This record gives sequence, structure tokens and C-alpha cells, in this order.
Amino acid sequence: MLEGDEGPAVAKSMELLLALGEVFGAEKLVPVESAHISGVSYKNLSEAGLEFLEEQAGLGAHARVTATLNPAGMDLERWRDMGVPEAFAEKQLRIIGAFKRIGVEPTCTCTPYLVGHIPRPGDQVAWAESSAVAYSNSVLGAKTNRESGPTTLASAVTGRAALYGYRLEENRLPGEVVEVETELHTRLDYSALGFLTGKLLGPTVPYFKWIKSPDLESLKALGAACATSGGIALYHIEGVTPESRHIPTEALRRLERISIEGVDLAETKSRLSSEVEDPVFCLGCPHCSLGELREVAGLLRRKRLRRRFWVFTSRGVYGEADGLGYVAAIERAGGRVFRDTCMVVAPLREMGWRSVATNSCKAAHYASSMGFGTRLGTAAELVREAVQ
Ligand code: F3S
Repeated sequence: MLEGDEGPAVAKSMELLLALGEVFGAEKLVPVESAHISGVSYKNLSEAGLEFLEEQAGLGAHARVTATLNPAGMDLERWRDMGVPEAFAEKQLRIIGAFKRIGVEPTCTCTPYLVGHIPRPGDQVAWAESSAVAYSNSVLGAKTNRESGPTTLASAVTGRAALYGYRLEENRLPGEVVEVETELHTRLDYSALGFLTGKLLGPTVPYFKWIKSPDLESLKALGAACATSGGIALYHIEGVTPESRHIPTEALRRLERISIEGVDLAETKSRLSSEVEDPVFCLGCPHCSLGELREVAGLLRRKRLRRRFWVFTSRGVYGEADGLGYVAAIERAGGRVFRDTCMVVAPLREMGWRSVATNSCKAAHYASSMGFGTRLGTAAELVREAVQ
């Protein structure tokens, strides 16, 4: 591949993977089952990224494994309703066109595992998007590093990744025990727990104790927040996540411990939250599951929203929710359900946003680092406020 036998695009991708492998001291490359590619929004890619992608497509780059896409900067059909400028939309559509020519499925979601892209335990995969990486490693038991847009594209095109980091068993063991000394009632609680853990542990793999039967949505909220504040790519929850069962008790006994109480979570939430004027209410970071859309539809029954209330999900989940009447229920109350994008990768400033109210510590963190006012609340609290 490196010598160009399979064309210039493959050679270029292989060059990148080998360079990365050398930096991290990898002994070899391994085949990957799939890739999930980030860096899709024109807001992040800009002109240089668009040119690179079109060049790769022109050179004949083609995905040889299942490859899916992270969110774009807009709903690919209803971008006008979102207030996305025409010039941005034109570039964004070119980006999606280039990915399609490369053979990447335009799933445009950070929850590919909710739309059929589900690796098996132990599979080597090349995933970018930190929340999806955390979910893949921790909940599904597949193996990936926190890849970038270019490296995931290179893995899709070559079907390979360098063997280092979380691809190796010895790096998947926990580095610290986190004793959770409080009940977690809402997704926001899980999000705050993840955010605080990441802050305290950095990229160290945590082993959570005493979290009782979290649902899928809570696990995705936890992982997204862990990855945001600390770079955590893998977590274990005692008795819940698949690899937690194989960690020897003796190894756990030797680890440092921290404990997290209810008051710590309250403080974490209040640090990410402030009084804001006329926020856009946003749910769906990470993208909403079908269950979350059902909950929002239920919360909005016989209600009338007085504020802008936007819900983000994938095209795949939207289709199911539409069929079950959840989308209509949310939109009847005055809300909007958008696909393919989110409140972080859309060009919010050009869309005239000034502040955001959300139930996700990840979204609040990024929105505030981009200079937007942010307020946190549970989905139920946000609905209550937005109908007043
Ligand atoms: Fe997904 Fe956007 Fe949040 S990509 S994890 S919804 S910042």
C-alpha cells in the first residue's frame, strides 16, 4: 500500500498511519473492522479540510471497511429552518458529497451505535468523536484509541490502524477507583459525574463503584462528559461494563481511590451554569436515542413551548421516532427536531444564538468555551422553563 500499488490515496493514508505508529512506538498495524470519522462540520474543517477531502475523493480514496460519519454543521435538508447561511450550507453539502464518493455512510451522528454500527466485543475499530470512543471501548468492549478525523479516514481507506494505546490489553486496566457515594437520578447527574471524574483523573481509566443499573442513555452521557473534561477514552463500572468482570480484585485493591458525593455533583453543575438571557433550549448531546425522544414527547404532552426548544438526533433514530409519532408530538408543542447536527458543531453565531440551556455538561462546556452563556438543567426542568 505504501509503495502505491493500490493508488496514491491509499499510499498517503498508509504514510499517515505509519507515522502515527512510529510516534507511539507501535510494533505493527492491525486490521480494523470499522471506522467512525469526525471532522465533518464545515465549521471545524474549513476550506483546507474541504479541499483535502475532495482531493482524496479525486485520487480514488475508497473505504474498505464500514465507515460512518459524525455530525455535520447542519440538518442536511432542513438547514434553512435552522437559520444556517447559504454559503455555509453549500460548503457543507460539498463535504458530504466528498465523503459519499469515498464510500462513507453519511450517518452524521455521534451515536453510530444507535443506528446499526455496533462493533463486537474485542473488535479493533478506528473511531473518532470522544463520546463515541468512550461508548465503544467501555460499553461495547471494542478497542479504539481517541482517533482524529484524518486518522479515521486513513483507517477506513486502508482497513488498518497502528497497534498501541487502548488497542492493547495492558492499557485497558483501570488506574483509579471512583466510589460514587450518591444516587444518580437523572442523565444530568451522570453527565456531572463524568465531567467531575474527567477533571480529577485526566485521561486515567476510572473504575466506578456503586453505580446501579444505568441505562444506555446514562452511559452515553457519562462517557461523553468523562471524555470532555479529562480525555478519558475508557471507563469501567463494577458489574455493568463488560471488561469490569475480568479485572482481578487484587489489582483493584492496589489502586488509589477517590469518592464523589452529591454535593460534588451539585457544585460541578453550578460551575457550568449561569443566569442567561433568552437561551435556545437544546437536548441531544450526545444525539438523542429513541427512548429520549419518547421521554421528551411525553414531557411536552398538552404543553405549549414559549421559547426556542431544539432536539438533536440522528437521521436513523429520527426515522423511527417519526413513525411512532414522537417527532410530531414535539413539533406540535412548538419544538423542533433536527438531524445530522448538534448545538456544538453548527455555526451558532452565524445563526444568531447568544446562549444555550442544555442537560449536557459536554455541550455546556463547549458552548461556554465558544463564548456563549450556558445554563444546565434536567430535560424536565428545561421543558418546565421553556413552556412558561
Ligand atoms: Fe455529539 Fe455534538 Fe455532543 S457531536 S457528543 S451532540 S457535541
